[in-house]
Amino acid sequence: MRVAKAGVVGAGTMGAAIAELLAFNGIDVVLKDVDGPTVEKGLARVRSVVDDLVRFQEGRAPKETERILELTGELSDAQRARIAQKLAPKFSRARADEVVARVHGTTDYAAFREVDLVVEAVFERIDVKRGVLEALDGVLPDYAVLASNTSSLSISRLARGLRHVRETLVVHFFNPPYTLPLVEVAGGVDTREDVISDTIDFLGGLKNHRYPLVPIRVKESPAFVVNRLLAPVLSEACAALDSGLASSRDIDAAMKAGAGMPMGPFELADLVGLDVSLEVAETLFREFGDPKYRPPFLLRRLVDSGHLGRKTGQGFYEYPGA
Ligand SMILES: NC(=O)c1ccc[n+]([C@@H]2O[C@H](COP(=O)([O-])OP(=O)(O)OC[C@H]3O[C@@H](n4cnc5c(N)ncnc54)[C@H](O)[C@@H]3O)[C@@H](O)[C@H]2O)c1
Repeated sequence: MRVAKAGVVGAGTMGAAIAELLAFNGIDVVLKDVDGPTVEKGLARVRSVVDDLVRFQEGRAPKETERILELTGELSDAQRARIAQKLAPKFSRARADEVVARVHGTTDYAAFREVDLVVEAVFERIDVKRGVLEALDGVLPDYAVLASNTSSLSISRLARGLRHVRETLVVHFFNPPYTLPLVEVAGGVDTREDVISDTIDFLGGLKNHRYPLVPIRVKESPAFVVNRLLAPVLSEACAALDSGLASSRDIDAAMKAGAGMPMGPFELADLVGLDVSLEVAETLFREFGDPKYRPPFLLRRLVDSGHLGRKTGQGFYEYPGA
């Protein structure tokens, strides 16, 4: 599968980052959202993601120099030069500009007439996603692959009756895709086998800012692997918090220090978005009917009050200035 030009619909948390990931891998991308200001916000996010990478790369040598100076108290010019050479930035400002220039904002589906692959990353609502997929179906070339970043919805249902029903599949990235390499790939009932395997091969050839991507094949199933396992963890964490077992900070600290998790369940839910976490829990509960998936009351209450995590400045924690 050759992807010279790709499209992303939805320039929010995931869409903008997926567009950046594709452009980082040398692919031209059109990025669509509902209106100009939202598209601009998405493009600004692409810029900020690559700027962060440049800052990180440029900061490696000075940080290491400082660290060694703190330990030893001195460093010769030759040693400084060696550190600067060893930790020279691998990603320059010029490359960052190239990545940004490869992402073209649009509010128009006509821009998708020549894309080889499109990733839909709009709100996790069947009506919204279906509207987007139908609009794309009308403009995409026959050979295009139509991917949805849905976390929990049925791809067979989303794709039903589309001209591209056999080329539609789930390509589920993780947040943020520029550092988390996993991608869950699932076909629907009608998805062509070669579309699934070619997409996995294509993704396996991409790199994010840290690692080669790790695409895995999963059965079409609510919430796939990671969210299916994480949803009950968040539910139990909410129950523990509600019952006064420990504070949110301590529950997060416990899962990091005691279970080796890089983030605690509340920190992770705030990063993912509480609306997204709630949607996943609701889907799992609806589909399996198992009480272990029942959406926690605390999560629903936060979502009802508009506190959706980092993106709104408040969730389980507060994020001043977000
Ligand atoms: N946030 C996460 O951690 C995460 C992780 C993996 C997958 N996902 C999935 O990715 C998708 C997007 O989630 P998000 O967190 O980026 O949401 P988000 O709310 O940050 O962004 C969604 C974007 O879609 C746009 N949009 C809505 N309707 C549209 C339409 N008709 N046409 C074009 N754009 C439209 C919105 O304006 C918004 O910019 C969801 O399906 C979600 O389940 C999210």
